Amino acid sequence: MLFSSIIIGIVSYLYYFKNLLSSKVVTNLNFDLLSRQLYALPEDDVNQKVSTNDFFKSSFNNISFLHGIASGDPTLDSIIFWTRITPNDQVDPNQLIPIHFKLSSDENFTDILQDVQTFTNSLIDYTIKLDITGLNPNQTYYYKFYNDLISSDIGQTKTLPYPDQEDDVKLAVYSCANYAGGFYHAYKFPVLKNSVDYVIHLGDYIYEFANGVYTNGTKLGRDHIPEHECETLEDYRLRYALYRSDKDLQNSHAKFPWILVWDDHEVADNSWLRGSVATSGYDFLKRRDEATQAYFEWLPIRPQKNLSKIWRNFKFGKVFQINMLDTRHYSRDITDYYHNQEFIKNLVEYEDRTMLGYDQEEWLNRRLLDNDTTWNLIASQCVVRDIDFSLPETGGLGFPFEEFNQDAWDGYIANRNRLLNFIKQNELKNNVILSGDFHIAITSELSLPHEIYNVETGEGTIIVEFTTSAVSSPTTFPKHFNESQSLIMSKELVENNDLIWNDGYWRGYMELNINMNNVTTDYYGVDIKDVNFNNELHLAHFVVPKDQSFIDRESMYVNSGAMNQKII
Ligand SMILES: [Fe+2]
Repeated sequence: MLFSSIIIGIVSYLYYFKNLLSSKVVTNLNFDLLSRQLYALPEDDVNQKVSTNDFFKSSFNNISFLHGIASGDPTLDSIIFWTRITPNDQVDPNQLIPIHFKLSSDENFTDILQDVQTFTNSLIDYTIKLDITGLNPNQTYYYKFYNDLISSDIGQTKTLPYPDQEDDVKLAVYSCANYAGGFYHAYKFPVLKNSVDYVIHLGDYIYEFANGVYTNGTKLGRDHIPEHECETLEDYRLRYALYRSDKDLQNSHAKFPWILVWDDHEVADNSWLRGSVATSGYDFLKRRDEATQAYFEWLPIRPQKNLSKIWRNFKFGKVFQINMLDTRHYSRDITDYYHNQEFIKNLVEYEDRTMLGYDQEEWLNRRLLDNDTTWNLIASQCVVRDIDFSLPETGGLGFPFEEFNQDAWDGYIANRNRLLNFIKQNELKNNVILSGDFHIAITSELSLPHEIYNVETGEGTIIVEFTTSAVSSPTTFPKHFNESQSLIMSKELVENNDLIWNDGYWRGYMELNINMNNVTTDYYGVDIKDVNFNNELHLAHFVVPKDQSFIDRESMYVNSGAMNQKII
């Protein structure tokens, strides 16, 4: 017995050593994250527990891939790859578990481009994040994680287009996915249609709320885990694990490279630089840091030097660049706590009030000015346009001070005016805002206060904004509204504010087709309460032609919600 164990031990060690020789060991960025991390563990502890010696001794193979695979933050020559393993046997929490990664130019893995290995353990919640470099621009790649016993599903991804490329690029754009709120059909359809190249997520990828608070998933079999509100690193990790158990979400991650930013619910409701709507008195900054750690562990985002700075820019050939803003945690001034709205109302026009912080604002201005592509997309978590929700005929949304959505750019008017003025003064064209967070779909045009804007013609428009609905978070309209009641409210909202279009009934997403001549936006709607829902609705269609800062009135059409009657 002893003899055979020794033989098995020697053979496995030799086999393992052979594998080590044949495939390069690469850094799991989440360990790197930990060693730079301020909060989770003392640095000495990490270094001691994550040593290469341990790795050479490790051969634990009995694992499952329960949370899918993902890729993201593509560049011209690199992509972030992600997975998480679940050990099937009892394992020492400090034991390093090896995992291999293979990249191929074909789905059958006949042309292997890279075959590397890395390791993970409980210190980083068994997550794996690799920055694979040396890739070619505009190339589709296939990948999988594996060991001697098991392989993950095969994923597909692609790098960014060549700098001089002029081909169309298609995006799916998402915001606000509440797992307990309903099924993730919005993630499903672009996979089924194979209709986009990349996914943009504007935040609220998870919700931190306790089970039954805000949404109740019991009837749908989608209760929040943990049951209580997330506050600690462990809570957020469990919440990500729940969300990532969803097959529609897993399939979208496996099919497309994602580019994400966070909004408030990746940390806490209506959060800003130094606080949020507090529910239990847990220290906000500690909570934010732990939530941030789980965010970087679980999502395919490239870790930045400063983990709180996730605003960044991606260029898609000559067609467009997208500026992913952080309007939430980087530098935002105090926001709506629900009980302080009288106080915030007096602040909204303060000149030095900021959504972005001055370095991010300066960075965005430079990106707008120095753009060498055709289009400049600005991705903002929150709605930028001013919208008055005090709707006297339909009763409004039921919030105090509805003339300002204090948690959106409406609560930071000077910052919005600085942005609009900058675009106008520099005569910048071909800019489009993508936003979300408000759980209703809106198409609008922005102009400066007290300046001429004509919704019939688009005259006076400085920039167009497409606001996506929620993946599965409830509408901001009264929850009991049926579709026709919702339509009446949409009409009042659109007419009172000179919006182009609004739909407050359907959950869904936007698809953008961007080329050298147009930005075309199609809104899609889904029924999140029906698990078998299989026929998405095409809600609306808009085109912004090049060198025209407003929406083309001729080509727009809507199948749901309210279009501005002055245009028709
Ligand atoms: Fe949300």
